[in-house]
Amino acid sequence: MLEKLNCFDMVLFGGTGDLVKRKLMPALHNAFVNGNINPDARFFCIGRSSLSTQEYTDMLFEFAANTDSKILADTWHQFARHINYIQMDATDEKSYSSLVAKLNQDITNIYYLSTAPELFKPICSNLSKANLNHQKSRIVLEKPLGIDLESSNDINDYVAQFFKEEQIYRIDHYLGKESVQNLMAIRFGNTLFEALWRRQWVNSVQITIAEDLGVGSRAEFYEQTGALRDMLQNHLLQLLCIVAMEPPASLEDDVIRDEKLKVLRSLKPLTEEMVLKDVIKGQYKAGAVNGVPVKGYLDEDDVAANSLTETFVAIKTEIQNWRWAGVPFYLRTGKRMQEKVAEIVIQFKDIPVKIFPTSGGTFANRLIIRIQPEETIKLFFLAKQPGDTNRLKPVYLDLDFNEMFHSRRTDGYERLLLDVIRGKLTLFVRRDEQIAAWKWVEPILKTWDELKVAPKQYPAGTWGPASSSALLARDGLFWHEEIA
Ligand code: BG6
Repeated sequence: MLEKLNCFDMVLFGGTGDLVKRKLMPALHNAFVNGNINPDARFFCIGRSSLSTQEYTDMLFEFAANTDSKILADTWHQFARHINYIQMDATDEKSYSSLVAKLNQDITNIYYLSTAPELFKPICSNLSKANLNHQKSRIVLEKPLGIDLESSNDINDYVAQFFKEEQIYRIDHYLGKESVQNLMAIRFGNTLFEALWRRQWVNSVQITIAEDLGVGSRAEFYEQTGALRDMLQNHLLQLLCIVAMEPPASLEDDVIRDEKLKVLRSLKPLTEEMVLKDVIKGQYKAGAVNGVPVKGYLDEDDVAANSLTETFVAIKTEIQNWRWAGVPFYLRTGKRMQEKVAEIVIQFKDIPVKIFPTSGGTFANRLIIRIQPEETIKLFFLAKQPGDTNRLKPVYLDLDFNEMFHSRRTDGYERLLLDVIRGKLTLFVRRDEQIAAWKWVEPILKTWDELKVAPKQYPAGTWGPASSSALLARDGLFWHEEIA
């Protein structure tokens, strides 16, 4: 049976901002042309610039056409008919009357706050003063939701005055990625891995989100944020939850979110001593990415000459529960690294007794789940070399999801926007998850701040500072690319 498409009005605050132009509008366009959006749906984009709707949609198209969104003029024009641009100052209570006049409050109203977090409070209170926070309304909050536990609590408390938790959609776009959802399917749709997915058989786990780009034009934001807040507190910890959670009883929103929360609450609390030993803070210096020379972080525009902001972070942690106690989890993320890649490596334990000769080293089984740029799964194991020998060699099974399923792959934002429209909260971060994540990273923020911990430099185009390799070497381990 065909899904009945919910009709809605969506208001996008921050309509002229980068996220709306680069991600949200292309995603909504794609969902629309693929028939996943009700043909009567409307999009109201709010911005302060003086633009007509025509000028605004032309600007969006020009932007989208110059990115890899591959949007065609033909389909864009069909979609653009549903867009209205409204020039207004979101902090000005009076200007909301124009929204009230336009929105159909009998259908779902979605407010997407793609703005600086300082605007979250005035927007929420102005929506409420205009009675727009009615039962059929939903609010979508983009990160960063605060810069620490206190500020995050503050924003969440404020939003909670006007919207119930089940009306709040906190976006973590990594949860919208097809390959991240596939991770759950692999774990909980098969018997093969689940039996081995525990301390008895797993030696260690690595989760990497590496980017080759630098901070670009976002240095002003990034200076206040850094890799820990920008990537680790959210994307990396969410990936960790999905890798480590217990099998949920169903796919219902809170059932999954309860299981993720348990993982966050089981993370070994960090002391100052542990932060100094198990957390590596890095910052890129001048180097070359893909053969092209690039400047160092301190030479980027809007970066303070003596900035201590980290562009790289690697952490060793442990999940203190029956499934994972004693298994090290290594998380890392950074800008200006050798390549753009996100992957999870499950390193299994070595066999207890070796009867075959191998060509040097140990070759314990590894499962590598690549989230991007390709979506692949590789399982490394040992096989006998052909011929008159008993020598074993590492080989791998390789599954490429794009080759396997030729259907269109959706961008994370498209999936998440459709879930907001459908009212499905599973892939959104619940408040208690967010708090647990902030609580866990707080000792890092505090130690770095109080001790003015200087980041270790790494040349752009590498895998981070040498101390990142040393973090694993201490345990007799290597980052995946060091053995691949
Ligand atoms: C965002 C961060 O959340 O994720 C950016 O703010 C980062 O700094 C981006 O570049 C990475 O997302 P993706 O999907 O390109 O890996």
